[in-house]
Amino acid sequence: MQTVVITGGTDGLGKGLALHYLRQGARVLAVGSTPTKGEALLAEAAAVSAADRVAFLQTDLTSVMATKELVAEIESTCPSVDKLILCAQRYRLFGARTVTREGFEHSFALAYLSRYVLSHGLRKALESAPRPVIMNVGTPGVPLGRIHWDDLQLTRRYSGFKATLQSFRANDLHGAAFAALYADTPIRYIGYNPGVVSTGMPNHLPQPLRALTKASLAVLAASVPKAVKPMARLLDEPPAGPFAIYRTTRQLSLKGPAFDQDDALRLHRLTQDLVGAAWGWP
Ligand SMILES: NC(=O)c1ccc[n+]([C@@H]2O[C@H](COP(=O)([O-])OP(=O)(O)OC[C@H]3O[C@@H](n4cnc5c(N)ncnc54)[C@H](OP(=O)(O)O)[C@@H]3O)[C@@H](O)[C@H]2O)c1
Repeated sequence: MQTVVITGGTDGLGKGLALHYLRQGARVLAVGSTPTKGEALLAEAAAVSAADRVAFLQTDLTSVMATKELVAEIESTCPSVDKLILCAQRYRLFGARTVTREGFEHSFALAYLSRYVLSHGLRKALESAPRPVIMNVGTPGVPLGRIHWDDLQLTRRYSGFKATLQSFRANDLHGAAFAALYADTPIRYIGYNPGVVSTGMPNHLPQPLRALTKASLAVLAASVPKAVKPMARLLDEPPAGPFAIYRTTRQLSLKGPAFDQDDALRLHRLTQDLVGAAWGWP
């Protein structure tokens, strides 16, 4: 039986993929921070006779320590992981800069550091599976934002947009670094941009933007069931190369500064120092 780990597996795209793989007979570990959302997923899993193959792992992924504990918990219960799908996100586009209890800027911690720790931390479990895949869901291929090398935590001239875009660009470099560091790994790493999808994302925006975003998504956006179809196809039949990026069904070029290998390895080393090199990562 396949094991599928999904962060943000309790809402939006992550939940759509969780239900898809439960219907396919896989074991799904869904990570989220809100117990009621986890309970709702467990109830929906029971309704498709998958209660014995689903687990809700309540974790606050803004915490590096909690994410490391999550890695240890998954490793201790699963001999292998077939798919790691990284969807957890909470946009904080407005308001003041906030830092986690470990001192990291919120978007950097949730949208980038948690994905870095899970990808590296679960690498061995993934490599034990016959056809392992990591899918990092974000906005690869969008030329907006940059890495603020001299101030990764954005202590100066902070804006929520700047922080969100930096976390997306950090994930682009993370994919490039992962493929460069583990040249012989069987893991296929996919950076995936789903396009505009109607999910739980606007629920955390301030009014009146929340209502406006919901109204425009109702007209313009794809539904979750429609959006997860090409994602599942790619996850089941990943491309041959170690690293690829897609926007919905279209493969995009890896040329350009967003995937520069020197920058990718530079960010990897800086991040390794930030999260602690405890696990002997390269
Ligand atoms: N929707 C779109 O149009 C769109 C477009 C481009 C890219 N994307 C990307 O697609 C991915 C999924 O987005 P979505 O729209 O499906 O999001 P969503 O519906 O808002 O779901 C976000 C998920 O992340 C979890 N999460 C948030 N904060 C967390 C925390 N601190 N710890 C653990 N889990 C946490 C949420 O669970 P809790 O609330 O319980 O914490 C929820 O399960 C994101 O990476 C997003 O950037 C989406």
